[in-house]
Amino acid sequence: MSKLERASFGSKLGVILATAGSAVGLGNIWRFPFMTGQNGGAVFIIIYIFCVLLLGIPCMISEFIIGRSGQCNTARAFSKISGGSAWTLIGYMGVLTGFLISSYYAVVSGWCLEYVWASLLGKLQGDPAYINSYFETFSQDPVKPVFWTFLILLATYLIVENGVRDGIEKASKLMMPILFFLLLIIVVASCMLPNANKGIEFLLNPDITKVNGDVFLAALGQSFYSLSIAMGCICTYASYFSKHTNLPGSAIQIGIIDFLVALLAGLVIFPAAFAVGVNPDSGPSLIFITLPNVFQQAFSAIPTLGYFISVLFYILLSMAALTSLMSLHEVSTAFIEEELGTTRKLAALIVTVCCIFLGIFCSLSIGAVEQYHFFGLSLFNLFDFVTGQLLLPIVGFLTCILIGWFVPHKIVRDEFTNRGTLDNGGLFHIYLFLVKYVCPICILFIFLHQFGLL
Ligand code: PHE
Repeated sequence: MSKLERASFGSKLGVILATAGSAVGLGNIWRFPFMTGQNGGAVFIIIYIFCVLLLGIPCMISEFIIGRSGQCNTARAFSKISGGSAWTLIGYMGVLTGFLISSYYAVVSGWCLEYVWASLLGKLQGDPAYINSYFETFSQDPVKPVFWTFLILLATYLIVENGVRDGIEKASKLMMPILFFLLLIIVVASCMLPNANKGIEFLLNPDITKVNGDVFLAALGQSFYSLSIAMGCICTYASYFSKHTNLPGSAIQIGIIDFLVALLAGLVIFPAAFAVGVNPDSGPSLIFITLPNVFQQAFSAIPTLGYFISVLFYILLSMAALTSLMSLHEVSTAFIEEELGTTRKLAALIVTVCCIFLGIFCSLSIGAVEQYHFFGLSLFNLFDFVTGQLLLPIVGFLTCILIGWFVPHKIVRDEFTNRGTLDNGGLFHIYLFLVKYVCPICILFIFLHQFGLL
């Protein structure tokens, strides 16, 4: 496809909602609230905001610059901006990261669909042992999770194959406001429960004694994952931005939306959990075991309300997962379409089939088939480890080095300021300083720290 024909988002709102759709995902709902509660409440939130502002947003802008200046898939965009040198490899790594994540992210997204269905049928009612065993039995079943993984990937395919404007942008414009609205309803319901204030206090109470080096690193890692950085998504979406899109402005708006959703998720989970005296944890067990219990008990005085809250929550979760999955899918779809010269529909189909294939193995590796374990990890956990702990920091680090040290500053500045038409030249120096020094050093710290080397 030539430059002139290349697809693009149709509006400013489309740009923001689609990219925020990528950022707002399971990470906001099952990781952020827990991390905040564990790491000093309001103090963690302040540290997190600094990480988003000083590290997450500059990295996002760097990916915007590479994507928009390239107007092509991530691998080729890295090649173009670096003049076709060895840096191209980072682009390929970004595409690979996006692809690997999409297959296991699809499995968890499928679980969310099962829980919409189960809560609709009223199956998530019973004592805690029952809810626990429901999840264990379901996630280790050889057929059910595979079916839901297939279904969510089919939904993703149907959206992505329709193109950037008619598929991704339309779906994001529809789902993101609904997601936000549902979240607000559940926040209000949760915060009105008796003892809710204890949960709010736990979430927001600044506890400086809990702050140490680990807390900074946790905040940093979370800000990267939550903003979908270093996975090819941001770069691919940016290739559909218009020449008039304000890159730093958009990155800031997306950072704010992503943060707000994470904070609101905390205002759902903690007040409800404290109302029934449950100590919430994180990850799959939080949303698939603890929360069904919490919703049931918290709203036991008005079970119908509990029923609706539970259904709405899982719908919200599925939509957050789906909009992230769309962006992950798009990374590989754009890559195949442009590198293999296929039609968009065929590219989307190939990616979907490959994701279903890998997704099945990931899903089965959790319980049904013991053999799918490598290096002591299930395939599911292996993908999580390789992408989150290896590829993400490597791609993020090298992206900063490329933009900060190798790409001519004129090119970077032209994209940052829309060729001098935006009045943000002063901000450019701050951005460049962060990308050159602060971001790579901090990413290096997280990388070394997670392997116990620091
Ligand atoms: N940002 C998403 C979340 O918070 C996760 C994600 C990572 C989505 C990478 C797309 C790409 O859940």
